[in-house]
Amino acid sequence: MSDGRLLRERHVAPSILSADFGRLRAQVIEVLDAGARVIHVDVMDGHFVPPITFGALMVEAIADQVHSAGAMIDVHLMIERPERQVAEFARAGADNITVHVEATPHLHYTLNLIRESGATAGAALNPGTPPDALSEVAENTLDLALCMSVNPGWGAQQLIPASINKLERMRAALPEHVALEVDGGVHKDTVASVARAGANLLVTGSAVFGSDDPAGAYSEIAAAAGLR
Ligand code: DX5
Ligand code: ZN
Repeated sequence: MSDGRLLRERHVAPSILSADFGRLRAQVIEVLDAGARVIHVDVMDGHFVPPITFGALMVEAIADQVHSAGAMIDVHLMIERPERQVAEFARAGADNITVHVEATPHLHYTLNLIRESGATAGAALNPGTPPDALSEVAENTLDLALCMSVNPGWGAQQLIPASINKLERMRAALPEHVALEVDGGVHKDTVASVARAGANLLVTGSAVFGSDDPAGAYSEIAAAAGLR
């Protein structure tokens, strides 16, 4: 369940894709203690993108820790026909659920389904998808727009430079109440430019969990993003 408050603020959102899964809960607690309030969960199905990661059970496994810290779980579904999975992820504790516009012929229906499940509704665009792909849902059906700044599927790729201009165009076209998230290649040296371009939710995977000191890395990126 989510009132969407965190979505409208600026946050660095660690992605557990790059975490040590054997110590997942401990690693999540570490970044929560460092101040993270949005935990990003990358779900991949082996079809929409080649890798398979995790499902709703993983969300359930971290939900109590995240929620008791006053933080939220931001689920990024890189799966085909996401409408079939929405209810299960919401039940498991997802506060926001984002689907790819390229993965369903039923975007409007799916976003409504997400909201009916009690979560906020996000729509993601691959790098090759034009920013106006959200024009028909933006005003009334959308809480979050996600601009992929790499092609989805893997962590630790380099941010595609054209993403900066795309973020600016997306921000200009979106209603003010819709959050703008950026995902891929965000680290201490790129975070300021994506924030300047209008993104307020800044996903970062390998730069946090690939570090020997995830809490320290989180804090450094948050500082570079103008937080604290
Ligand atoms: C990529 C995922 C990202 C990934 C980002 O498909 O959606 O969330 O974790 O990883 P970094 O920050 O390493 O680019
Ligand atoms: Zn993601």
